[in-house]
Amino acid sequence: MPSNLTEETITEVVQRTFDASTNDRFREVFVSLVQHLHDFARDVRLTGDEWFTAMDFIERLGKISSPTRQEVVLLSDILGLSMLLDTMNESPGGSATDSALLGPFYVEGRPTVDNGADISNGVAGTPMFVTGRVVNEQGKPIAGAHVDTWHSDGEGFYDVQMTEPLHNEFAMRALLTTDDGGRFWYRSITPRYYPVPTDGPCGEIMRAANRSIMRPQHVHFWFHAQGYHSLITQLFLKDDPYIGRDAVFADQTSLQADFVHHGPGTAPDGTLVDEPFVTLDWTFTLAADTGQ
Ligand code: BEZ
Ligand code: FE
Repeated sequence: MPSNLTEETITEVVQRTFDASTNDRFREVFVSLVQHLHDFARDVRLTGDEWFTAMDFIERLGKISSPTRQEVVLLSDILGLSMLLDTMNESPGGSATDSALLGPFYVEGRPTVDNGADISNGVAGTPMFVTGRVVNEQGKPIAGAHVDTWHSDGEGFYDVQMTEPLHNEFAMRALLTTDDGGRFWYRSITPRYYPVPTDGPCGEIMRAANRSIMRPQHVHFWFHAQGYHSLITQLFLKDDPYIGRDAVFADQTSLQADFVHHGPGTAPDGTLVDEPFVTLDWTFTLAADTGQ
């Protein structure tokens, strides 16, 4: 270490240690990271005790994480980094449907079902009938698109958060395929707003900031179709009490939808329903994959 090292000169000294890398992108990212980290420490006059607290926080993020508990992803979400990256990298622009983050509750192994299936797997709740159309930017239907969907129950819990008897089974999630008209449809139960997990290190940040921990009612979708950008998105209840203050910043206006309430009667798929139910209908637009 050079003997004339100062608060200002140390940054470049550290950056130069990346010069020998043959990976240009690695070098670019780390040189910038060092610059911003050092600027941040100088800017807030970070104390040793504060950095120790931060390092302990990072360690605890890792310790609480598991395949079903993604605390590092949650930190990225509540700091708005996930949505920033979505906006930068996943928004092809034009008339394509906006993307919204994946979240921690997508899991591998969901059942593949036919259109019209009831995906609630017996979980009780207000019936919800979802009808969707997948089109290209010219409005032409995309047949054979794969549609992943998942959502919470009426108490705000996903299947993976439930205890007996569902903890080993899937509910309120499925993979469907669009028909020749680009349509998909299924029956489930109506989800509800829910809090992000707050019993870990991220909860400490939310409480210290006195900010809302809630996510407005939403349904997740992930579309794959040959020749198109895949699209991960969510639809939000337009008049949810928490709309506009989503804890993870995904509830943009373009994705706010009417979850329409109906009295007992005929559902969109022709089923006679003897209790009140909800319908959700949306057209999703995928951007063509131009190979860039
Ligand atoms: C979700 O949408 O499932 C979600 C996203 C971020 C944090 C917690 C939940
Ligand atoms: Fe969710």
